[in-house]
Amino acid sequence: MTLTTTTPRLDAGWLLDLLDTRPRGHSLPGACYSDPAVHELDLRLIWQRQWIFVGSVAEVPEEGDFLSIDLGSASVVVLRDDDGRLQAFRNVCRHRGSRLVTESHGCVGNIVCGYHHWTYATDGRLLHAPQLPPTAERAALGLRTVHLREVAGLLFVCLAAEPPGDIEDVARVVAPYVAPHALDRTKVAAQTDLVEHGNWKLTMENNRECYHCDGHPELLCSFFPTWGLADHQVPERLRADHDRYLLAQVDLERRSEDLGLPYALVEDLGRPVGFRLHREPLDGAGESFSPDGTRLVGRLLGDLPDARLGRLGLHTQPNAWFHAQADHVVTFAALPVSVDRTLVRTTWLVHEDAVEGVDYDVASLTATWRATNEQDAAFVALTQAGVADPGYEPGPYSEAEEQVEAFVAWYDARIREEAAR
Ligand code: FES
Ligand SMILES: [Fe+2]
Repeated sequence: MTLTTTTPRLDAGWLLDLLDTRPRGHSLPGACYSDPAVHELDLRLIWQRQWIFVGSVAEVPEEGDFLSIDLGSASVVVLRDDDGRLQAFRNVCRHRGSRLVTESHGCVGNIVCGYHHWTYATDGRLLHAPQLPPTAERAALGLRTVHLREVAGLLFVCLAAEPPGDIEDVARVVAPYVAPHALDRTKVAAQTDLVEHGNWKLTMENNRECYHCDGHPELLCSFFPTWGLADHQVPERLRADHDRYLLAQVDLERRSEDLGLPYALVEDLGRPVGFRLHREPLDGAGESFSPDGTRLVGRLLGDLPDARLGRLGLHTQPNAWFHAQADHVVTFAALPVSVDRTLVRTTWLVHEDAVEGVDYDVASLTATWRATNEQDAAFVALTQAGVADPGYEPGPYSEAEEQVEAFVAWYDARIREEAAR
């Protein structure tokens, strides 16, 4: 008898066959969202190979501050060392493997394993290992490092030995858009963790379209009613709203130019670090995600002198999206928990000198996206139930779902590319 090291179903071939059955412009087969074997392949080929957004510098401002995130069974700690540099490590003790850090955020002098008290410096060096023979090679027993890349204050990690190199190209494009919002001078005003009852791809797909935005009454105060529609897709009843949007767009482009802020839409969703970047007007006063569009934080970010800068929307594949206004930034990280559970971590960043109760009120600041997240979680849960039903057949995307198709095509391409490596 021959022993094989891979379970046959974890060979990616059958997933490629499954993906072959998808006509372009249609949703994925049900197994892609509900089969644990697909999820294992997703973890291996996407989550352990691509650049994953994990948080921002505002979450680890001081020496010893850390954040930890789980990507399936892998866990990563991002830590600011005693010299102020950010590092990322496997959250695994070099002795017998105990998980080191169990909190999502915290501050440490050293990292001390709770099991036998091996102690690591904030730069990952093994400092202390009780009763380890003097012959042991302590220098080789530091924490295993993980690739970490900061892009204008946004932190990405990659578990692959050789991460996709195009993050450098993407960073060059993205950084000038995000930099004026000065994330290195922000603080966390609020953070929520919401577990959606759906596969991570459903969470991302739901985020890539506003076809369902009728289900978001709070958000619709901020987005123009024709958001995401091309000129020829605008129904007659929304023509006046669309004209208003076009005027606001011209005005915002001029304001951005005056301040030297990059404005043009950049969309490059097909590459390994697929991304989309767009500054666009918000409805009402055009300043922030409030019911009337006025700012939610009195103190503007960085050195921005103009509150009416609409929304800088950024999306990075596979797992993040961002909204940066003049007064605050919201970051969203989607992280897989299981085949049908996805953690959505939402973080509201305000100027580091903004004072709660004076410059902002947390309930008002977070109201729109807390409500929108709950609504999205409900849509995702209903979709998960449906795509796991034997009665589900992949359906055609509407014209307003181009970016869903782009996301699914990206997933398809990465699975094929990574399976061939
Ligand atoms: S497993 Fe960490 S000290 Fe033993
Ligand atoms: Fe939504």
